[in-house]
Amino acid sequence: MSALPGSAEGTAVTGLDSTPVDSSPEALADLPPLTEQTRLEAREIMARYPVARSALLPMLHLVQSVQGYVSPEGVTFCAEELRLTKAEVGAVATFYTMYKRRPTGRHLVSVCTNTLCSVLGGQRIMDALSADLGVHHDETAADGSITLEHAECLAACDYAPVVTVDYEFYDQQDVESARELVAALRRGEKPAPTRGAPLTDFKGISRQLAGFSQYEDPYEMAAAVDHHGDYSPTLIGLRLAEERGESAPAMPRTTPSEAPDAGEPAETVAPTGRTGATPGEEAADARVAAADTPAEKAGAAGSHPDAPEPAGRRLPDGRAGTDTPAGQEPGTSGQGPASPPPAAQGPAEAPRTIEGRSTPKRKD
Ligand code: FES
Repeated sequence: MSALPGSAEGTAVTGLDSTPVDSSPEALADLPPLTEQTRLEAREIMARYPVARSALLPMLHLVQSVQGYVSPEGVTFCAEELRLTKAEVGAVATFYTMYKRRPTGRHLVSVCTNTLCSVLGGQRIMDALSADLGVHHDETAADGSITLEHAECLAACDYAPVVTVDYEFYDQQDVESARELVAALRRGEKPAPTRGAPLTDFKGISRQLAGFSQYEDPYEMAAAVDHHGDYSPTLIGLRLAEERGESAPAMPRTTPSEAPDAGEPAETVAPTGRTGATPGEEAADARVAAADTPAEKAGAAGSHPDAPEPAGRRLPDGRAGTDTPAGQEPGTSGQGPASPPPAAQGPAEAPRTIEGRSTPKRKD
């Protein structure tokens, strides 16, 4: 088994996959060279990190942005610049599936065949594209247009079945829509992804992953990346809860000494005039008063110090509480004291929702 042509030590270190980096004459013919400009950009990446070797991951993307895969020349290039062995570079390049070992097509089409996507048709999509393109997993169509791969969960299960092109999402696909998508890509078109930034191509997205944007203007870039998409499958649970006035159970209460009011955002703490209220109660009153929706109000009321204790779990003998033997509760098994809940560890951050993402406003 050889892992990296030209790297005597590669096999022993990388041994993760018997598929070698492609150094066949066909692959190396017409390979764009790594130029002095590439070297300057690599050094620009290295300068971003306190320790140069931390730059390896984006540098591998940089190599892919020029040559379409991590070539033997690219491995040597990164090793030289970072003063690593080629085996060390190869160990990283062969570990992550985003680093390709053979020349990649103009576009990389990834079909999620993990559990949820698969039961909803992901495998049928993969089979159909495979037949159309005449390739299997990790192979490139003869015309060089598409490299097809199956992917593990793409973290978009609420949009299943999911296909990505150059890591941009095309949600809720079926066999026909996926075939049309790939046919359009082969005609040289770039259909708009369901959400997120516009489609580029595999080399273009590799360059972005190396930290170089194709947008000169940062505001144009932010607008493209944050441009509005259809997030309704993700948000439907929140919307239903809001309509019904439902909220999650209150978090376990903390004692005042565990949750000092020092972390409370100043603008939500307003004196209520309640006689004898502690600062914590004052803040809780203010949160209830400031809640805009029934769901927020219910949540704020539930976490109020005056709220009744949530009902505990009943033990078989009728007692309320936990049946974990004393001394064996989480965090008491020789690993030190249990960590306080997040609320006691400092000021709570304002919740950030997908809808709440904001695009920087252009300065005039
Ligand atoms: S299973 Fe396909 S995105 Fe999660």
